[in-house]
Amino acid sequence: MSQPSALQASTIQEEAMPLPIGERLVRNQCITPQQLQEALAQQSGTSVNKEALIGKKLIEMGYISHPALLECLFHQLTRERIAYQLDRQASTIIRFNHVEKTLDGRKVLDNLNLEIPANKITAIIGISGGGKSVTLKHMVGLMKPDQGEVWVGDQPVSKLSGRQLNEVRRRFSMLFQEGALFDSLNVTDNVAFPLREKTRLSEQEILQRVETCLQEVNLAGMGHKFPDELSGGMKKRAALARALVTQPEIILLDEPTAGLDPIIENAIHYLICDTYMRTRYTIVCISHAVPAIFDWCHHVVVLHRGRVLASGPSLDIRHSTDPTIKQFISGALDGPIQVI
Ligand SMILES: Nc1ncnc2c1ncn2[C@@H]1O[C@H](COP(=O)(O)OP(=O)(O)O)[C@@H](O)[C@H]1O
Ligand SMILES: [Mg+2]
Repeated sequence: MSQPSALQASTIQEEAMPLPIGERLVRNQCITPQQLQEALAQQSGTSVNKEALIGKKLIEMGYISHPALLECLFHQLTRERIAYQLDRQASTIIRFNHVEKTLDGRKVLDNLNLEIPANKITAIIGISGGGKSVTLKHMVGLMKPDQGEVWVGDQPVSKLSGRQLNEVRRRFSMLFQEGALFDSLNVTDNVAFPLREKTRLSEQEILQRVETCLQEVNLAGMGHKFPDELSGGMKKRAALARALVTQPEIILLDEPTAGLDPIIENAIHYLICDTYMRTRYTIVCISHAVPAIFDWCHHVVVLHRGRVLASGPSLDIRHSTDPTIKQFISGALDGPIQVI
């Protein structure tokens, strides 16, 4: 075969360069070359427009569904989520090996094997009572397995106690399902609480950090309010600020949007993603916000009857053909999950 001329070589290079997302989608058979061409054919020449059109295509394809995310296409997170979908590259930070847990005579975790990718957002979904909150409590050693092991990095959390366990716990912060602000403390004191408990920062440093955190969750100037003076969404944001203030490596969120209207739910999701983009913490979020949650995370774990029914990049789960997962996502009454 003859060598390409200098002109041919530069043309090839130019063609290969400008659209990494579109080309990777084609390469991974997510869209056809023709669909990519259609999107490109409409572009007026600037790379911004090209990407906006690819964004529309992604919505059509079901990669992203929320219109707000079209604006956010240039947001690094969307790109990274797609890259994760395609390349599946991440190390594991939390691992469950054959975990069994019986509570009140009922097997709640049944040979649970689970991996949480490091520095990604993972959503845990599944019907109520499936063992999601119990799983989260095992990650921080609040519950211990009857059998099996839970690892955080190279630490066997399920076997640790005392000071060693406390050291691992320092890597975490957790927003409990109940939200649980202290009613007798104002917002500032609520958010400052873990810093006063766990650190030796000066009062001035604590108040500074609290104020920054309140700004980040859009509660600037609300520090003097008490929980019963706040709306549901504000309470969740205050609880989120409290979870973030210790600057943990891993954040566990148990239904952070439960009981909130769709707009506040959206705002909380934005906040979680924004936090992730600023910090790159590992975030594990139990959620019933299906299908919205698929837009906001890299990885999804479906827990069902104490086992992992499926685990993978969010689009894999969203388009799963498993009847139980399909029923859960659609909310249909007919299906393998017996409701009544
Ligand atoms: N501390 C506990 N003592 C006894 N049973 C519990 C306890 N915590 C959870 N359970 C039971 O374990 C099952 C799974 O609970 P949970 O993990 O809270 O479910 P979900 O998936 O809704 O978060 C439920 O049947 C619940 O009643
Ligand atoms: Mg729960």
